[in-house]
Amino acid sequence: MDKQNVKLGNAKFGSAAQIRSTRGLPSVFPREMGPNTLSYLQQVVESGLASDMVTRFEKVLAEAHGRQYCMLTPGCTNALFALFAGLEFKPGDEIIVSPIADYGDLAGLLFHNYIPVFCDTEPGTGLISAETIEPCITERTRAILAVNFFGLPCDYDPIMALARKHNLVVIEDVCQSILSTYKGRLAGTLADVAVFSFDSEKTMGADMGGAILTDDQELYDRIVNRSIARGAVNYPGFGRKHVYQGLALRAPQCTAATCLGNWEILPRQVEARMRSAAMLNDKIRSIPGVQVYEVPADRTHTYWMYGFSVEPSQLSCTADQLADELLEAGIPCGMGKYYVLPAGVPFLAEKVAQGVYPFNVPTASRAVNYDADEIVPNAVAFMNRWIRWMWTEKYSDQDVELMASIIEEVCSRHRIEEDEQ
Ligand SMILES: Cc1ncc(COP(=O)(O)O)c(C=O)c1O
Repeated sequence: MDKQNVKLGNAKFGSAAQIRSTRGLPSVFPREMGPNTLSYLQQVVESGLASDMVTRFEKVLAEAHGRQYCMLTPGCTNALFALFAGLEFKPGDEIIVSPIADYGDLAGLLFHNYIPVFCDTEPGTGLISAETIEPCITERTRAILAVNFFGLPCDYDPIMALARKHNLVVIEDVCQSILSTYKGRLAGTLADVAVFSFDSEKTMGADMGGAILTDDQELYDRIVNRSIARGAVNYPGFGRKHVYQGLALRAPQCTAATCLGNWEILPRQVEARMRSAAMLNDKIRSIPGVQVYEVPADRTHTYWMYGFSVEPSQLSCTADQLADELLEAGIPCGMGKYYVLPAGVPFLAEKVAQGVYPFNVPTASRAVNYDADEIVPNAVAFMNRWIRWMWTEKYSDQDVELMASIIEEVCSRHRIEEDEQ
């Protein structure tokens, strides 16, 4: 790849990165912050930073999920840095990762010199499964990092059964799926350990923030040691020795205060998101060329984003063209395709080609393939047909009516009549 000719963009995030609707549909920002957030922030300030806001929110999140241990972090990327430090695998060990995920899913494992191996998704779903994971397992595999894509959990029971057979740790990435359920159980309780994001764009947005939940006390103790104590242990008569290569990933008290305030309003917001998304599904299901994302009966979807697939036999345009036209007509989509990580992180293939550490053999056991078309064809095909935009609890019935009518109108411009199909 010619990096010389690629301009480095200024990173925008949160409100600054939002696409606004040309038809007045509400945006995610400004966000509702909850009636108690200001008072929690005030408690932090008035206590002179002596408040227990971090442990207070950790307790609330752990109890709500029926988990023993929670550590709040400055974000999910950081949570995964901390978790991979605590897992203590060896350089060159392999982690199987969802290919439709965020760069934050890779940063921590790469920092620890583990090797990501992308398994494919089930056709038409964006979700990995036991069937797509199994062919990727080798004697170097140590963990599976499963992402609950856009708000919908994976099918975890078969994934956990497979993991137990091969002695693998399963990490559930709940960043996009807080309060979703699988077989009546909450997302965040479905695997060995769960990671969350409270980034300002997420369903529960608290500016920045993340968390790790687990029932494994030894793992939790190692995570806290590596990321709060920065790997240090106190030796009697000597003092602090950094016996592990630690990190500094303490969560700020103000983040905890904002999380606590936002957590209190989350159930109502999630209910509103699910209701309006179900309404839009019903309104656009019969539009030729639109394939609604159907939620399996054993799960609930909490719609961090909303999306549908384009049926190419019924429309004479690509998903990208349709997204551009929908954007112009007022639906805030068209942000480009969502990640297929092996294609979106080209330095991985470069490192393999260069044979640099830890991708050199014998640190690695093999040259891992990062060609997205070859290794994750279902994920690539899914993303080529996928249109999405940020969902928000602010959408009213009228907003949903407007979105449905825009989708109907824009699709009708490209409809292939039945005798042409
Ligand atoms: C699936 C997933 N994992 C990890 C992250 C990283 O989260 P954070 O921004 O809190 O570091 C994100 C953020 O978009 C995400 O969507």
